[in-house]
Amino acid sequence: MELLNYKSKYRDLVCGADTKIPLIDGRYTENINFDNAATTPPFNSVLKDIVEYAPLYSSIHRGMGYKSQLSSNLYEQSRYIISKFVNGDLNHKTIIFVKNTTDAINKLSYRLLEDYKDGVILSTTMEHHSNDLPWREKYKVDYVDVDQEGKLSLSDLEDKLKKYAGKVKLVAVAGASNVTGIINPIHKIAKLAHRYNAKILVDGAQLIPHAPVDMKPVTSDEHIDFLVFSSHKMYAPFGVGVIIGWKDIFEKGKPDYVGGGTVDIVTHDYIKWNSAPYRDEAGTPNIIGVIALISAIKTLSHIDMKSVHAYEDQLAQYAYKSMKKIPDILLYGTESFGETRLAIIPFNISGIHHETLASILSYEVGIAVRSGCFCAQPYVQKLLNLTDKDVKKYMSNKDAKRPGMVRLSFGLYNTYEEIDVLIKMLHKISSNKAHYIKKYS
Ligand code: ALA
Repeated sequence: MELLNYKSKYRDLVCGADTKIPLIDGRYTENINFDNAATTPPFNSVLKDIVEYAPLYSSIHRGMGYKSQLSSNLYEQSRYIISKFVNGDLNHKTIIFVKNTTDAINKLSYRLLEDYKDGVILSTTMEHHSNDLPWREKYKVDYVDVDQEGKLSLSDLEDKLKKYAGKVKLVAVAGASNVTGIINPIHKIAKLAHRYNAKILVDGAQLIPHAPVDMKPVTSDEHIDFLVFSSHKMYAPFGVGVIIGWKDIFEKGKPDYVGGGTVDIVTHDYIKWNSAPYRDEAGTPNIIGVIALISAIKTLSHIDMKSVHAYEDQLAQYAYKSMKKIPDILLYGTESFGETRLAIIPFNISGIHHETLASILSYEVGIAVRSGCFCAQPYVQKLLNLTDKDVKKYMSNKDAKRPGMVRLSFGLYNTYEEIDVLIKMLHKISSNKAHYIKKYS
């Protein structure tokens, strides 16, 4: 209970944690942001570093001016800082800057075509659409199953690797689910994939900002071949995404996106593509975004990712324990947190549509949450136990209210006090359903 009075020591790191927002009755209150899986507010240190760098801003790799050289050096050094953060191996891997994780996986899906087009991509039922849709149409795709709690089935993974008898080229799996927060055992998956001569791509969008990630040396059979993530989910919302992957893949073939920076020699009828990673970074690089990402990595490393995870885990366990006592609450995902689940809790209150519930929380007490299927519809359908027939009903009726859940996702600046506000409100909603439904439907 001593935890109850514990204000997050990380709260002041974040810009806007205490912003006052209006409620439906006209009162103003401090906003409570439980939507960190969607995006995170900027660190103050990130804003400060951007402002400090701004007077030195200049174009990358495109000038001999002092500022241009300095900016180019900062940009190139950043690849080493990122590599160190996740224990990448720049002797064998390259780091490519893109816009975000979705952009990263789309790029990979094009760049792997030359080597993988006749193979199978194993995605999973728990993926965000961004780690599913880019693979469709270009490849044969199959999905590793999850159990009713939403946990990935490693036995189904192995069955499918066996079934395709060496044809699986890539296992594309989330480091952690954006819906349930369930953390996948990425090194076990890597070992299995490698045993069957497949490579592994980890969608690190959710995992990287909340727990330590180690790609492991390429000499380990547990190493991660490709890792992708977004800066906007790690307190640096300035439009940068990262691909870390095998250099040889990006040293050959035509980039998916072409233009300035991607070429070595061009005539009207000849193109010699640049080396990696430049071949895949068309146009003027987003140096401000990269400065922001490096700054966020510095702050997160200073805190230590183990401490970030430990604090958020305490928040999640505190919330989960109290939520279990709310009448008519439906909680999804596994019971255990810690090593196996990030601080994300999807839920419903039976009899209230998820959108209505999210609106009540926003308008009545200033709590921001996301509701719906979180761009992971097959996974949410499974967690909600929907049959094919149920889903078809939605397909044929565009006006039917969509299925879904409400999702809490915590960040390092959230507090126990904020969770208390939520729990109190959920009790109120649960015991006055008719009143709130009338008011908000
Ligand atoms: N993938 C983000 C989310 O889960 C946008 O909300």
